[in-house]
Formats: sequence, C-alpha cells, structure tokens
Amino acid sequence: MSSRKVGTQRAFDAAAADFAALGRHLWEPIGAATVAVAGLAEGDRVLDACCGTGASAIPAARAVGATGVVDAIDLSGPMIGELRRLSAGLPQLRAHEADATAWGTSDYDVVQSALGIFFFPDMTGGTERLVGRARSGGRAVFTIWRGGSMVTAGRHLGRAVAAVTDSAPPPQREPGLIDRIDQAGPYAEWLSGRGLSDVDVVVNDLRLAMTPEVAWLVVIGSGFRGLLDDLEPAVVEQVRERYLDSLREEGVTELDATTLIGSGTVR
Ligand SMILES: C[S@@+](CC[C@H](N)C(=O)[O-])C[C@H]1O[C@@H](n2cnc3c(N)ncnc32)[C@H](O)[C@@H]1O
Repeated sequence: MSSRKVGTQRAFDAAAADFAALGRHLWEPIGAATVAVAGLAEGDRVLDACCGTGASAIPAARAVGATGVVDAIDLSGPMIGELRRLSAGLPQLRAHEADATAWGTSDYDVVQSALGIFFFPDMTGGTERLVGRARSGGRAVFTIWRGGSMVTAGRHLGRAVAAVTDSAPPPQREPGLIDRIDQAGPYAEWLSGRGLSDVDVVVNDLRLAMTPEVAWLVVIGSGFRGLLDDLEPAVVEQVRERYLDSLREEGVTELDATTLIGSGTVR
C-alpha cells in the first residue's frame, strides 16, 4: 500500500467487495445518472476519474461501444481489481491504478467523475487538471453529494463507535470548499470558474430505504468504513448492533443520498 494512502483511502481499499455490494443501491444509480448527463455517443473517448468499481465507467463503456474507449482510473488497487473482474467482456474499458490528478493522457471527448473530486487534496486544482484532459469543445461531468446527503448514517455510526469503545465521538470535520459549494447554484458558479462554459447542474434525488442490510452496507461499503479501522471483529459486531438500534430508536427509515451532477463544455 502506498504511504500516501491515509484514512478514507485505506477504507476504500478495504471496502472494495462491500463497495460493489452497496453499488446496486447507491453507486450504480448515481453512476447511471452521471453517464446519462454525459450524453455519450458511440466511439467516444472517455476518462472516468476515481472510478471505484465502475458505477459510471461500466455504463460509459457500454454507451461508447466497441469503437470507443473508457480509461477508468482509481488510486485503489483493490477497486481496480474488482472493476477488472466486473468489466470482463468490455475490452473498451481500460482500468488503471493511478492518481487521477496526475493522469497525463488528454484529448478525451468526455471527462467524468462520480463522487471523486472532493477527495483531491486540492479540489480546485485537481478538477481543473481533469478538465484539461478533455479536448476543446468536449464535455466534463462531475458529481458531488448535495449538502446533507449521507450525514444521518455518519452521525449514528459515530455515536455507536463512541459508545461501544467508550471514547469521545469523532470530531466534526473542518468545513472546507466542498461545504461552500454543495448546493446547485454555488456549484454551478464554481464549475464555471474551472474552464467550463454552458454549465448546468442537475439535482439527482435519491433516497435509500434503510433496511438493516442496506444500513450496514452503507457503513462497510463506503468511506465510513474508516471509522471501524483497528477495531476487533467482535467490537465491530457490537458497533453494528448499536448503530442499527440507534437508527431504529430515532425512526430513521430513509437516507438522503441526493447528488448534484454538474456538467459543462470545455473551453
Ligand atoms: C466514493 S468512491 C466513488 C467511486 C465511483 N466513482 C462510484 O461512483 O462508485 C471515491 C473513489 O475515489 C477514489 N479516489 C480518491 N482520490 C483519488 C485520486 N486522487 N485518484 C484516483 N482515485 C481517487 C477512491 O479510491 C474511491 O474509489
């Protein structure tokens, strides 16, 4: 494992199989909506950055067909391994373990990234670099969480870990750029400053039915898994029970998983 992988990134490595299992409920509908906005045509050359196990890269590969290309890149080797397995039979999809912010190839017709750009240490610089991978007149599509999405699960999980391990609840994350642009208007304005014209933001409403199975997959199949790092399996089981009890006690039956799909033409 690369020494620059910390926190959430280690969680993604560990989560690859569970990430794919959560995909049916969460990543795949969001990936499909991202690809629909991208409006891919047969033969297009596409860069899919932060591809995970392929929620947007796989439908993109189907849309561009055998004459197109999708370069799908992710920092996580286990994610890329899972994607290679899931995309056998789609030779136009080329999966690469690489840092999206350092990818050199350019002239893509479309650059897309679903739920990835806010992980870049420099979100603005990394996104501009991705925009620069597309040809002039090409399109860029970036999907982010709308403000408030997913937070209920994180709050109940944080409380459950604190209660079971008898520790203080995890500190609130310091607000950053992503917290200032997590609504449609500010996001469109921010994208317009990234070398894109005709920017549009689609609000993609999604609510997850929090059955116990899905509620736990939300934890072990996403970056939330990082909160379980270093806990023994028996302790993780106690956290699972506490978390599910806590959701039940508060009457949580749904999780807001709404995203903002921003797109524009590359100048
Ligand atoms: C929330 S997942 C989304 C995956 C996928 N796009 C989807 O929608 O299912 C975020 C992914 O971004 C990857 N990632 C984070 N920073 C990255 C970087 N600099 N370069 C490539 N991948 C990155 C993580 O490894 C993780 O797989």
